[in-house]
Amino acid sequence: MTSPETATHLAPAAAGEHAPGRYIHPLTIGSLTLANNLCLAPMAGFTNVAFRLIAKEVGGCGLVASEMVAAIGPSHRGQEERFRVLTQNVAAEKPLAMQVYGRDPALCAETAAALEAAGADLIDLNCGCPVKKAKQSGCGVALMKEPELVGRIIKAMVEATRKPVTVKMRLGFDASNRTMVEVATAAVENGAQAVFVHARTGESKHGVMVDLGGVAEVKQTVMRLRGAAIPVIANGSMDTAAAIRQAKDQAGADGYQIGRAACGDPWLFRNLLAELSGNPTYTPSWDERRALLMRHYQLICSLFGADRGTRVMRKYTFFYCNGLPGVRRFRDRFCRIANASEFAGVVDDFFANLRAGHHALEPAEHLTLFDRSGPGSATDTDGH
Ligand SMILES: Cc1cc2nc3c(=O)[nH]c(=O)nc-3n(C[C@H](O)[C@H](O)[C@H](O)COP(=O)(O)O)c2cc1C
Repeated sequence: MTSPETATHLAPAAAGEHAPGRYIHPLTIGSLTLANNLCLAPMAGFTNVAFRLIAKEVGGCGLVASEMVAAIGPSHRGQEERFRVLTQNVAAEKPLAMQVYGRDPALCAETAAALEAAGADLIDLNCGCPVKKAKQSGCGVALMKEPELVGRIIKAMVEATRKPVTVKMRLGFDASNRTMVEVATAAVENGAQAVFVHARTGESKHGVMVDLGGVAEVKQTVMRLRGAAIPVIANGSMDTAAAIRQAKDQAGADGYQIGRAACGDPWLFRNLLAELSGNPTYTPSWDERRALLMRHYQLICSLFGADRGTRVMRKYTFFYCNGLPGVRRFRDRFCRIANASEFAGVVDDFFANLRAGHHALEPAEHLTLFDRSGPGSATDTDGH
């Protein structure tokens, strides 16, 4: 185990190393080559096919990821509809990563095979989910305490699928159990083709600063084991060009995975790609934002049906309007939309007010829906 104090950062980039292509470039993960190294992070309750398609079409990220799928095995009948929603995918979003959540090697292997059959291009193991249920059942971040088991799960998954298998981990179960080196070693020695590292430990909230020293340690370990063949992808607040440059310069990251910031801002990927390649960024007009929100709503309704789709869409509606003037006043309305006509009404009201300048005196606030409890909270699964 390694303590934060001993974490070694890679040497900062020397002058002249900031050449085009240093931060943004294609990325190879086993048999898969991604057009670029910006990846959408898996987010339970969010990264369904509708969301992913938009992230891909509008943002052009190199890899999208589904929500995690529990390795519960054939005894759990009645989960077919859930499996369908979690794994539904379309050609236009590819390549697509799907994620296994579990701890039993045989069940994880069986699930990996099912995900391949459902259309996954890459299969990831979740070693990061920090919710109480995961910790109690020895899954998610609890696996950070069992590197040897992680190795066995990865080996079983590799044997069950022809697709590249990867691991998504944290730096450790908590600050006094930083096992990222042991877990990365076990995963790579058993066939993992890439390591996604959320640069926080399991007890850290999302607001806590990421620790790039931990990512650097993983990168150095993987380099020792397999050279540059296995990419290390940094995750955790990688949502600005500055954060990405730091992850490269200080930790040697090969790619960057973005979660929360992509919600409601699918242009983020496109803008990061532009900024890091020295090109101008793009600001969508309000009309464009509204049009994309409506398209997203249609996609969500075709996935879930109109009733459930409308409820699911509440959180996305909020995100599309977040950061615009007047969002505070509308937040509770977004979170209570009950049906399709109410949806259109609330959205029309918001944008009509915006155009008419009625929100002009209200601040263009960025409100937090993640890490917030009580009515209107987007999800009870945040904090993975
Ligand atoms: C609502 C929500 C759901 C998440 N679900 C998953 C998940 O299913 N699997 C996973 O590995 N991580 C999950 N995560 C963690 C994210 O993938 C990511 O590691 C984390 O949000 C930090 O990245 P960010 O700062 O870019 O958001 C989830 C995060 C959030 C906020």
